[in-house]
Amino acid sequence: ADSLRALGDRQKLGIGTAVDDAHLGSDQPYTDLVAGQFSVVTPENAMKWESVEPTRGSYDWAAADRLVAFAGEHGQQVRGHTLLWHNQLPSWLTGGVADGGISKDQLREILRKHVTDEVTHFRGRIWQWDVANEVFANAWDPNPLPNGLNGDDFWIRNLGEGVVADVFRWAHQADPKALLFYNDYNIAGQDGSNAKFQAVHDFFGKLVAQGVPVDGIGEQGHLDTQYGFDGQRFQADLQAYADLGLKVAVTEADVRTFVDNATDQVPTSQLAAFAQPYEFSQMLTACQLVDACVSFTAWGVYDGDSWIPGTFAGTGYGLLYDVNMRPKPAYFTLRQDLALA
Ligand code: G3I
Repeated sequence: ADSLRALGDRQKLGIGTAVDDAHLGSDQPYTDLVAGQFSVVTPENAMKWESVEPTRGSYDWAAADRLVAFAGEHGQQVRGHTLLWHNQLPSWLTGGVADGGISKDQLREILRKHVTDEVTHFRGRIWQWDVANEVFANAWDPNPLPNGLNGDDFWIRNLGEGVVADVFRWAHQADPKALLFYNDYNIAGQDGSNAKFQAVHDFFGKLVAQGVPVDGIGEQGHLDTQYGFDGQRFQADLQAYADLGLKVAVTEADVRTFVDNATDQVPTSQLAAFAQPYEFSQMLTACQLVDACVSFTAWGVYDGDSWIPGTFAGTGYGLLYDVNMRPKPAYFTLRQDLALA
């Protein structure tokens, strides 16, 4: 049967996965799945600041370069991830800010250099950059700004909200052809007020109107079957971003369930086992139905190598392949959705 990537190619829809540097190349079955099933790859960690500049002033591009080279050899496009994020920052940076060794002015200059150097290093080889990541407040965050940005975010707190537009400008200068995305979770298809969607929509609508070089919005798509998910609303929200003149992408899809144990990751309930592929399908078909949706990426290849069990204890089963790298119902469901389009 056709691979996901072959089916996606027919409708010009990129089908992606996050790639773990520890497995690529050394783990042959894993490597074969990455090459065979996916047309887009995102480094799960290798392009983050702590990975590329562990020591101030000395870059280590080795892991990220390996993935970009692999993508070139296998006719794949790359999503660069991510330039501005509060997490996985090098300790020399966070430590320097905390102890006053790095001033606000210096921090801004360090950030500008980071964005410029990293985007320049990969110039011409990145399809979409996640320029800024997760700077909007969730309902549970205590200090949202009036426009919905998270006032407690490391970058907003230290450099002010103008930093968001600035990183897009710096990235665009360094690689004018790369598509520049804002990436976040729970910004489409949420139950209730959908306030985070509205804030992101309005904020980037303004940046677009001001001529800031923003090209797209990425909804991560980290779902959990214990919470409600509204596929119609998900599609409507992607379309609303598209109506601002932006591209959209599903960038980090996984759908977790409660599992019996972290090792075999069997769902605890039949209902959850059925909801898992269903919610994956809802996200993919929404993307297929929105013309501006350019790619759909799962956040990892198989359940044996996912961030989920380590972060949400007692849950797992989030990806398209099981712990033994066998395709799951979610895989076959997505293949069918792609084939029927
Ligand atoms: O590199 C060290 C290694 O040297 C050490 O031995 C090991 C022991 O714990 O830790 C390794 O670092 C881990 C790193 O992944 C690389 O494997 C960190 O502890 C671990 O926290 C880190 O987790 C990553 C997480 O981001 C950190 O925030 C996940 O792999 C990655 O999937 C996850 O991805 C994020 C996206 O970037 C943004 N959106 C949410 C998504 C899920 O959290």
